[in-house]
Amino acid sequence: MTSPDIIRIFDTTLRDGEQSPGCSMSPQQKVVMARALDALGVDIIETGFPASSESDRDATRLIAREVRRPTLAVLSRCLPADIEASARALEGAARPRLHVFLSTSPLHREHKLRMGKDEVLESIARNVAHARRLIDDVEFSAEDGTRTEEDFLAESIAIAIANGATTINVPDTLGYTTPDEIRGLFQRLIADIPGARDVVFSAHCHNDLGLAVANSLAAIEGGARQVECTVNGIGERAGNCAVEELAMALKVRNAYYALDTRIDTRRLVPTSQLLTRLIGMPVQRNKAIVGDNAFAHESGIHQHGMLRHRGTYEIMNPADVGWPDSKMVLGRHSGRAAVGHRLRALGYTLEDGQMDQVFEAFKALCEQQRVVDDDDLERLMNGGVPSQGFRLASMTVSDRGQRASAQIELSDPDGRTITESALGDGPVDALFAALAAATGVDLSLESYQVHSVGIGRDARGEANLSVRHEDAAGTSVAFKGTGTSRDIIEASALAWLDVANRLLRRRAETSPGAQRTAAHA
Ligand code: KIV
Ligand code: ZN
Repeated sequence: MTSPDIIRIFDTTLRDGEQSPGCSMSPQQKVVMARALDALGVDIIETGFPASSESDRDATRLIAREVRRPTLAVLSRCLPADIEASARALEGAARPRLHVFLSTSPLHREHKLRMGKDEVLESIARNVAHARRLIDDVEFSAEDGTRTEEDFLAESIAIAIANGATTINVPDTLGYTTPDEIRGLFQRLIADIPGARDVVFSAHCHNDLGLAVANSLAAIEGGARQVECTVNGIGERAGNCAVEELAMALKVRNAYYALDTRIDTRRLVPTSQLLTRLIGMPVQRNKAIVGDNAFAHESGIHQHGMLRHRGTYEIMNPADVGWPDSKMVLGRHSGRAAVGHRLRALGYTLEDGQMDQVFEAFKALCEQQRVVDDDDLERLMNGGVPSQGFRLASMTVSDRGQRASAQIELSDPDGRTITESALGDGPVDALFAALAAATGVDLSLESYQVHSVGIGRDARGEANLSVRHEDAAGTSVAFKGTGTSRDIIEASALAWLDVANRLLRRRAETSPGAQRTAAHA
């Protein structure tokens, strides 16, 4: 066994995560994700459930060919045919593991398996032994373990160990347990079951009550040395224990837990963002570690504190998890300290009295828009002159017939009218093609999201776009744009133009010979 001070991270993003609604991945996408999990430093990657689909068999074979450092696990029911399909899929893997599971709880025994206790025990013994004859590394999971009678759970685990299981997983399949309960359960199982100290105990907690990470940490306190996690916490129903949260809890509170993982925490955000792009499922803004707001500060009191000492409102360094820096979001709740700080960073030296004027204009702008960015501040410093850019005059989008079409009318930065039309695979595709043709700006979108803001008659669609472009010096710069309208297609057009105008302004400012305004220092 490896160091008892290391928690093994068993990543099941590609199995438990991928089998949940909206998260499916092609074999090629799984390979991309497996490479990223390898770089992240997880110990075990569960690649799928080979007996359930051709796609999982293909994904496992492809991953086995090129991902050689971590152990690769695949899931099987307690059925010889499943186990054999899994072993075949793992042929060629550098470190293969067979993961065999059977439900042990009374509810599952009676309604799902229709098996008595003796039949369950006999099946565990036979199938774990069969798996062990094929591959040396065998994990047994007692599905719905935390809702199983404790003595029967212990008996099932003892049989699995006696028949060759090397890792014992006690899943909280329904996310039902509590931290105290699972800590005690692991302590007793490890203390009482013969041979328990020669195998690795594993926790697999679901998040139905929002306790997956807390329960996994408690299981660790009870003696678990493997935790089953997913990136962004995706997984059945409310998901699984989120790897980014567990890894950072162990790192930030290392003095308390005195346990490490092999995770390269600086890869947490890039890995989270990769998964978001692959499956198209964004994480909530306020998601711990990887959400957009995890290191963002808008309120005046917090920004003031952060400017004095970042420890006032942050318990970890954003760079340690892969964010470039904390974000000081300027909006309605921001104070003079943060606005002044940002203006100085942009190169403005404010004379006495000037700050009052700018701050008043800033507050007025915040009544019209949620966030004030650097472009907006530049405009305020230039006397509030509206930014020159393309403006939407009208648009018509139709989605009848084979292809969608869009006609748009814009006014250009000199006030001239431009009309354009384009076809596309859908209304938004056609609209963006028409906008690109009219402005001459080609945006390759990094993300595009539309959601509703407000309720009832006041509800509006808000579209958010982000793109990444190289500037003249070859630096990759991110641009974000927002558009709001009662009509989500129009909101999308406004967001597209917002980004395009920012990009054009940046190009104009950074082009050789561009003049900085007199207000600059
Ligand atoms: O939640 C669960 O019980 C599982 C097992 C198959 C490990 O995912
Ligand atoms: Zn699960």
